[in-house]
Amino acid sequence: MKNAFVYAGLLASALFLGASAHAQQASGSMQAMQDSSNAKAMAASAPRDPALKPYFADFGGKAGLKALMEDFMANLMADPRTQPFFAHVDRTRIKHELVDQFCVILDGPCTYTGASMAQAHRGLGIKRADFNALVEDLQKAMNKHNIPFRAQNKLLAKLAPMHRDIVTKQ
Ligand code: HEM
Repeated sequence: MKNAFVYAGLLASALFLGASAHAQQASGSMQAMQDSSNAKAMAASAPRDPALKPYFADFGGKAGLKALMEDFMANLMADPRTQPFFAHVDRTRIKHELVDQFCVILDGPCTYTGASMAQAHRGLGIKRADFNALVEDLQKAMNKHNIPFRAQNKLLAKLAPMHRDIVTKQ
């Protein structure tokens, strides 16, 4: 069990680092192009993947995702690394958007109507370490909900590349 947890963490880190190298190649003009293409940004923010349909059930469907998000947000608020980011925002709304976002990624019967990841996180000054802290808090919540590691890793693999829209570029 412990090894599986470590593996999940390593996978998330590896994906993140891989995506990071890629992101460094992205120029300012590419960022501008992405911003101008809202549809593309939205698709990247909630990338539906029919191959993940079997894992939607592992997460307990939409009800399971709602329960998961309660613990995820509680973890974020209890974590001194992430708490400052979430202290003064509408956490109920964010939980709602996260449920829809994860639900879409897992090919569930949902629609994501929130902001693109670039829009939602613009100007927040999120660093790489903050991103990793959030992933840890999500893993902790998924473990508490006994989400199988394979299902966890499938979701994390979809979230990891989003760092290029979320982490503030220097
Ligand atoms: C893969 C990682 C992440 C995902 C999938 C994600 C997802 C989301 C979603 C769906 C929203 C709501 C969008 C909307 O406003 O409609 C949101 C908002 C927000 N996120 Fe993230 N996020 C991630 C990483 C982070 C990190 C690392 C931080 C800070 C440590 C963070 C801080 C926030 C804050 C503060 C808001 C609210 C912004 C506002 O309402 O002004 N997020 N995120």
